[in-house]
Amino acid sequence: TSVGRLLAIETSCDDTACAILAYDGTILAECVLSQTDHAILGGVVPEIAARAHLDALPALVAEVLKKASLTLADIDIFAGTTGPGLIGGLIVGSSYAKGLAMALKRPFMAVNHIEAHILTPRLPSLGAALHFPYLTMLVSGGHCQCVSVEQTGHYVRLGGTIDDAAGEAFDKVAKMLGLGWPGGPALEKLATEGRDDAYALPRPLKGREGCDFSFSGLKTAVNRLIDTQDPTGTRDALPRQFAADVAASFQRAVADVMADRAEHALALSPNATALVVAGGVAANKTLRHALEQVASSHGIPFFAPPLRLCTDNAVMVAWAALERLHAGETPNDIDTAARPRWP
Ligand code: KG4
Ligand code: ZN
Repeated sequence: TSVGRLLAIETSCDDTACAILAYDGTILAECVLSQTDHAILGGVVPEIAARAHLDALPALVAEVLKKASLTLADIDIFAGTTGPGLIGGLIVGSSYAKGLAMALKRPFMAVNHIEAHILTPRLPSLGAALHFPYLTMLVSGGHCQCVSVEQTGHYVRLGGTIDDAAGEAFDKVAKMLGLGWPGGPALEKLATEGRDDAYALPRPLKGREGCDFSFSGLKTAVNRLIDTQDPTGTRDALPRQFAADVAASFQRAVADVMADRAEHALALSPNATALVVAGGVAANKTLRHALEQVASSHGIPFFAPPLRLCTDNAVMVAWAALERLHAGETPNDIDTAARPRWP
């Protein structure tokens, strides 16, 4: 099947995104709307997110079509994230894409959000020329796993978090330090003023067999450390240098654990041609640097997609659908229901 253009919608968390790609993967237009209400609320509120997706989608799709100088009639196939994620948002976005597909008598493809994250580095325009198999460390606010990407549609999950996702840990520690939400970027900035060896924090699961992650023990240790300085709990009153030292020490601990887990993953998949990091936490320079060193010690390239394609977006959803078309799949997922969990 030769498909001209594919329009994809992503609504699995708090970003509403739409993108149009040509069959060869050329990005014709893309847009992401971030829901700012959650920053005030200190986290994603699922019901608010779902309603905001519904409000945003009509204008967002129109805007992306306009950017590409196209109309809906020019779209040959539609795709939407149907899981995993927050069920309300998944239903809104995938139903919207299905509605467009049905109205225009075009096929619909249901896309797995995790699959989309881990296939993105293969987008031709990124020039990474990634070949199978490669190893992806997926680290975001909602996900933390280590996956060997064997082929399109064939993934081996080598490990995952047994409690919090990495981004979640960053956000929670940032909150303890009195920083805003999402906390990852603010914590990284504060850490530049601190010493990463100021406090000896635990490295959960470091050295253990396999590639699982755990962050709750580290989080608890940070909380206890902060309590020693601030027994009354008014976090905004923390001395700045102390907060910066805690931020730097925490960040170092996360990077050390990640590097160790990546080492183990590479030992389990000796044929890996590259080490890739994806997800919002991939923005973190300390983490990137630690993983880069692991890759270079194994003599394989390290690759991180540009940040806008690491965080949630619809280009990745469109590309995952295109990869499946390229692999010969015939699209007809109109009956595929949205699902919060999709292993
Ligand atoms: O992939 P993403 O945009 O959304 C999902 O969770 O799917 O990832 C957002 C997460 C947040 O937890 C945020 O704090 C974290 O990525 N993050 C960072 C940095 N930038 C974003 N964590 C550490 N350092 C950063 N520079
Ligand atoms: Zn994501």
